[in-house]
Amino acid sequence: MGFPTRRMRRLRGSAPLREMVAETRLAPSDLVLPLFVRPGEGEARPIESMPGNFQYSIDRLVGAAKEAADAGVPAVLLFGIPSSKDSQGSEAYAERGIVQEAVRAVKSECPSLVVVTDVCLCEYTDHGHCGPLKEIRGRRVVDNDAALELLARAALTHAEAGADVVAPSDMMDGRVGAIRIVLDEAGHTDVPIMSYAAKYASAFYGPFRDAAESPPKFGDRRGYQMDYRAGRQAALEADADAAEGADMLMVKPALAYLDVIADVRRRSALPLAAYHVSGEYAMLKAAAANGWLDERGAVIEVTTAIKRAGADLIITYYAEQLAEWLGA
Ligand code: PBG
Repeated sequence: MGFPTRRMRRLRGSAPLREMVAETRLAPSDLVLPLFVRPGEGEARPIESMPGNFQYSIDRLVGAAKEAADAGVPAVLLFGIPSSKDSQGSEAYAERGIVQEAVRAVKSECPSLVVVTDVCLCEYTDHGHCGPLKEIRGRRVVDNDAALELLARAALTHAEAGADVVAPSDMMDGRVGAIRIVLDEAGHTDVPIMSYAAKYASAFYGPFRDAAESPPKFGDRRGYQMDYRAGRQAALEADADAAEGADMLMVKPALAYLDVIADVRRRSALPLAAYHVSGEYAMLKAAAANGWLDERGAVIEVTTAIKRAGADLIITYYAEQLAEWLGA
């Protein structure tokens, strides 16, 4: 008889056995929840394009952070919406800026929650770009080196406020090195840098720009974010950030970039995070709201795939819900 043996079929038949041989395991300890903080008191303004997410005033943010921690989420990533914006994004590096105050409040109420801060200027500049502008040959562009100074100051004020990790998302050249030097000089040698190593210019950031009130007022971010046709360039970015002293790398967005995650994973021994961004969240939410997808199944499948591709950490707006589903 010429029938081949198909032993794998027997493994597939039994749930406990499948569990034992699962190559990829998603756990609440993999997750980071992004949160938005705005000025005011008692505020939780719903973000329309990201159902279930809010712009919180600091008092409410603390409650949301506690809830996430209780669900088993070990870390949050904070984004600020400032009370006023200017050309230099000065609230981004103000000692009493919105994120700095939020960090103090969250760390004092939930000391064991890991607080990561987004280091960028685009939410704080009146033009919505990730650094101050200059003119080159009649074109307004971001002044890379002037931005470095301001980004390093922002990271320093976050560290002084008690941030556990700083995460520069601006994609200026040399920012990891600049931030490392400034943090070390001030004695914050133990504050790690999670760098957005490969951040692609993506249509999937749309809902976030509503949430953070940060769309660019002219042009777009293709001058400094990566072109999604460039896969190999991620390796160069990852190497550069590692050489400048990054402690963790990040790829963003996640789902359309699983190849990039796998590539950076093979290339670098540093811990790797993937950002499952606002548009990826919004797609799932919208389909689920219409009854077109089983939300729980789809979300667990997608996030497990991000881990399978090689991410150690997943930054996702589903973090709290996922931690509950996974039974922390
Ligand atoms: C700021 C920043 C952005 C996101 C994270 N940090 C927006 C952007 O670059 O336009 C997007 C996150 C998301 O879509 O969930 N530079």
